[in-house]
Amino acid sequence: MTAAAEPFFQETDTLDMSAVEAFSQRLLNCYNGAAIALMISIGHRTRLFDMIARMDPATSQEIADEAGLSERYVREWLAALTTGGIIEHNPATHRYWLPAERAACLTREASPNNLASVAQWFAVLGGVEDKVVDAFRHGLGVPYSAYGRFHEVMAEESGQTVVAGLDDFILPLVPCLEDRLEQGIDVADVGCGRGKALLHLAKRFPRSQFTGIDVSLEATTAATAEAAELGLRNITFRRVDAAKWDDRGAFDLVLAFDAIHDQPAPGQVLENIRSALRPTGMFLMQDIAAATCLHDNRNHPVGPFVYTISCMHCMSVSLAGGGPGLGAAWGKELALSMLEDAGFEQIRVEQLPHDIMNYYYIAVPSQEAAQNGQAGDG
Ligand SMILES: C[S@@+](CC[C@H](N)C(=O)[O-])C[C@H]1O[C@@H](n2cnc3c(N)ncnc32)[C@H](O)[C@@H]1O
Repeated sequence: MTAAAEPFFQETDTLDMSAVEAFSQRLLNCYNGAAIALMISIGHRTRLFDMIARMDPATSQEIADEAGLSERYVREWLAALTTGGIIEHNPATHRYWLPAERAACLTREASPNNLASVAQWFAVLGGVEDKVVDAFRHGLGVPYSAYGRFHEVMAEESGQTVVAGLDDFILPLVPCLEDRLEQGIDVADVGCGRGKALLHLAKRFPRSQFTGIDVSLEATTAATAEAAELGLRNITFRRVDAAKWDDRGAFDLVLAFDAIHDQPAPGQVLENIRSALRPTGMFLMQDIAAATCLHDNRNHPVGPFVYTISCMHCMSVSLAGGGPGLGAAWGKELALSMLEDAGFEQIRVEQLPHDIMNYYYIAVPSQEAAQNGQAGDG
């Protein structure tokens, strides 16, 4: 035995082998979960879940025919999800089915409880793994433009977490807001993406005027096209960098859905939002529910998911723009202090039953900022 090998054998002697086995099993469970997540994403994109949920128990050929897909691929997908405990299979009849309780979490019909759409993020993030690995070495982040399907998947998620909860949960957070929207106010959505939330509001409140701003041409072009399709005249989408946005005192309500923590200049964006508000205006910010201190997030229900998306996207895109890389779990304590630094006061933080992922911050421009002429006077 060499001197160098000694510590290895000593440690091996002291290892609790049952703990090693339990941990190995945990890792295998993780890999099975990751594999199932990829298959769930494909099931969502091919609409196979929607299809199977509507069918009586069927063979792989019948399912493939109904979906217009290749039987060989469908059979392999069914096998992955049968062994994964998602799809049921009768070996005697070779028929497959999706139990109703699982369809209630995996189909478009089940939206906003359709968890299948969320699984798409793993493939989106996998698509930039090489760039993220490089970024671990150079530290300079990964730009938004590197992420295939980002705005498409984000818009779908927005439909589930924001649009689905707007009328019943989000608007009622601000007293009298629905009445004011009915009467007619000016509303901006910062980092609006494909504008799903704003389009919904513009349809519902024809007397109000809506402005969506986003730095992405792809997102604002898609949003503008949808507004035209819907025949909406009270909404515009502008390609603007929120850090350079200089509308002053022009809005009664500014919204930001999941759009602050990944900014290259989040403090400047919050200041610009405050300046864009009239003195009686209101800022409503949805952002990830987490604590700023990692230790306080150790029992977070989706902690690994939040930090992984952050590492592979939110933190990375901010760093790519020369920003601080706050990360998705920048947390309530830091968010509150940054809102105060940007000139907001009377800040409330709420959580909503339909959305375990987010906090909702409601804030007004501080009197001091208004008196100093920092908030617009309309
Ligand atoms: C996580 S997505 C959220 C999109 C949308 N609010 C939603 O809920 O679907 C963040 C959005 O912020 C936009 N964004 C990032 N940096 C920006 C900036 N400096 N100015 C304006 N928009 C920005 C991105 O293009 C993206 O559409």
